[in-house]
Amino acid sequence: MEKLRIGVIGVCGRGTLAENWKDNERAEVVAGMDIKEEHLADFRARMVEHVFVTLNYRELLDRKDVDAVAIMSPDYMHEEHAVAALDAGKHVYLEKPMAITIEGCDRIIEAQRRSQKKLMIGFNMRCHNMWRTMKDIVDSGTIGEIKAVWVRHFVGRGGYFYYHDWHGRRANVTSLLLQKGSHDIDQIHWITGRYTKRVAAFGGLDFYGGNKPNDLHCPDCEERRTCTEASFVRLTQCAKRSEIDVEDNNVMIMELEGGIKAAYLQCHFTPDYHRNYVFIGTEGRMENSEPDGVVWVKTRRSNSWKELSDRTYVIKKAAGTHGGCDPVICEEFLDYVLEDKKPVATPIDGRMAVAVGVCGAQSMRSGGVPIDIPPLPSCAVGYD
Ligand SMILES: NC(=O)c1ccc[n+]([C@@H]2O[C@H](COP(=O)([O-])OP(=O)(O)OC[C@H]3O[C@@H](n4cnc5c(N)ncnc54)[C@H](O)[C@@H]3O)[C@@H](O)[C@H]2O)c1
Repeated sequence: MEKLRIGVIGVCGRGTLAENWKDNERAEVVAGMDIKEEHLADFRARMVEHVFVTLNYRELLDRKDVDAVAIMSPDYMHEEHAVAALDAGKHVYLEKPMAITIEGCDRIIEAQRRSQKKLMIGFNMRCHNMWRTMKDIVDSGTIGEIKAVWVRHFVGRGGYFYYHDWHGRRANVTSLLLQKGSHDIDQIHWITGRYTKRVAAFGGLDFYGGNKPNDLHCPDCEERRTCTEASFVRLTQCAKRSEIDVEDNNVMIMELEGGIKAAYLQCHFTPDYHRNYVFIGTEGRMENSEPDGVVWVKTRRSNSWKELSDRTYVIKKAAGTHGGCDPVICEEFLDYVLEDKKPVATPIDGRMAVAVGVCGAQSMRSGGVPIDIPPLPSCAVGYD
């Protein structure tokens, strides 16, 4: 295969990631599918004039000139699109979260096993210089064996990202613990090298939602000049509308394999944006500051030859969207399919992040009871 020929399902919004495969030595974007004509017109303008476009994803999957499919549709369509694409014999790049139920993830894994095609999950944060540095520090053993993790995700502009459209409803996402949180949960799994076994959570809808009509849009609202959440670009459904039912304030505790204890906060109404990660091991502690672009490492004082100085790593800013992750993950997908290199994240990683988010939501909605993460399906045994 000279170039990987890619079809995109869901061409706007996250679908713009596909621009990294345009003018690429190893890839070309040959087709796009969306439910909106205007999004397909926009896609065609951004890609090449002769790109195939359709409103029916099965037409895209039927095409012999599509080797791989990038699925960037909303979460609630991931399972249907991924299973169909794998069954059609296509390699798949699937955006996070893998699906909105554990069973949905397991059905995708089964489809992958059936088709033997390649499936990578879009955990682009694994490609970020800051978290790659943190992973390297843990793997080097500098802070010893990890015993405790504390992750706080202050989602500044959470209203804009999650409460002005489909993201605000359980029916579409299950919970923001797996929609937004699957990145953080995955980073905890990836950096420690351990999956979660058990969770308990508390949460609430403490800021968004309310009693506004479901068909109200910010540009038509009489409170548009004074509402702090008013939005006039792209996503404009009222963030105080009554149908909103996903928690905006989530606190979860997790027990991982190897006895690691983790705590996770995800709050959507903070003024600033910051993902703050802390890892504590038997030899030291590591913490990042996303706004300052640094990672600090402090090691235990011991009077032994092993004693190390405290260190600050200054993280290089990378070019490209999402702090430079996006161009990297697109290249990694090509490496995986064309060169048989390891994928950035496997379907098992995707499923485990969803499982933790689903069980966290279940716990949160039943008074904080601890819930065990269901085991992987039998077809996943032996999956590398
Ligand atoms: N990894 C990341 O950093 C990252 C960032 C943003 C979004 N995402 C993921 O990308 C996905 C899309 O999110 P978004 O914010 O771009 O959503 P969106 O609502 O903007 O939709 C993306 C595109 O999918 C199209 N679409 C909607 N329903 C469809 C359907 N049934 N079939 C085909 N296309 C459909 C939309 O018209 C749009 O063009 C989500 O699963 C989200 O979690 C990942």
